[in-house]
Amino acid sequence: MPLQTDGTVTENRRIKSLYFALGIYCPSIADRIKPGQFVMLKVSDDNSPLLRRPFSVYKSYPEAHPEKRKRGHLFILYKEVGKGTRKMTSLRKGQKVDLIGPLGNGFTPPPLPSSASSILIGGGMGIVSLYPLVEAFDTGGLFVFIGGKAEDDVMCVEDFRKFSSDIFIATEDGSLGFQGTVVDLFLSQKKRFKGEGKYYLYACGPVAMLKAVAGVVEIKKFVSQASLEARMGCGFGACWGCVVKTNHPKTPYQRVCENGPVFPLENIAWE
Ligand SMILES: Cc1cc2nc3c(=O)[nH]c(=O)nc-3n(C[C@H](O)[C@H](O)[C@H](O)COP(=O)(O)OP(=O)(O)OC[C@H]3O[C@@H](n4cnc5c(N)ncnc54)[C@H](O)[C@@H]3O)c2cc1C
Ligand code: FES
Repeated sequence: MPLQTDGTVTENRRIKSLYFALGIYCPSIADRIKPGQFVMLKVSDDNSPLLRRPFSVYKSYPEAHPEKRKRGHLFILYKEVGKGTRKMTSLRKGQKVDLIGPLGNGFTPPPLPSSASSILIGGGMGIVSLYPLVEAFDTGGLFVFIGGKAEDDVMCVEDFRKFSSDIFIATEDGSLGFQGTVVDLFLSQKKRFKGEGKYYLYACGPVAMLKAVAGVVEIKKFVSQASLEARMGCGFGACWGCVVKTNHPKTPYQRVCENGPVFPLENIAWE
């Protein structure tokens, strides 16, 4: 069950251009959150904007974490895109924030032990929700594809390097790495994944990116999960403001917040 609780801001700093890292001390959520789950954050005390905003949890440290100073902390990476995220930039250390979480179903890591390799494909801020997975992996290999419009939009590279040397970067304007979309980049490397056996593929990013991924992976070879981004009203299944069309025979319209945000890639009815 998700909790509505207070957290205390421990830091809120600009990483680069429009990107910020928000640290919150909130042991009750940090203890329970799983890879791919999210929180709904009340971004200001003045009810403007009225609705909470959804954010993936980038890193979280449970109460039993060996490093005492990290215990109970969680981190959100966010991009300033509108009214709510602009308000977030003025949160100060020591300030209380109200949040609901953990929400959603999260990713299912590969079954253990597994010699299969995993592939992560993240577009823009989508890469944030994939990061907690790497700490849960104990698999044969890890390939990480990170994309953004330009160099400034490429996030989290150094953190992923701690887990894999197979990091591939794409920017649409060519300012860093491969020039093109992250899906073009994945396609250019797809011959690496020709061997026997399955690959576990995890993707998060804009709908157009996920649709493109769905178009280039074979269901038999890639066990694929996608985390969807949607505008959300409540975040816990009450308002039906976040529905997505799926291939489910009885209930094709499913709520991203409640039934997702992670879905098997082939279950989404891409239109
Ligand atoms: C499950 C989930 C996890 C998310 N995790 C993160 C994260 O880790 N870091 C992060 O920076 N953002 C994340 N987002 C997106 C984030 O919630 C939005 O950027 C935020 O709500 C925008 O609020 P705003 O008031 O600043 O923008 P608004 O003023 O409401 O809108 C500004 C612009 O952003 C677009 N926008 C707003 N919300 C979304 C959305 N949910 N998806 C796509 N476009 C949107 C609008 O169409 C508009 O163009 C996540 C969204 C979901 C659903
Ligand atoms: S955001 Fe309200 S049902 Fe999903």
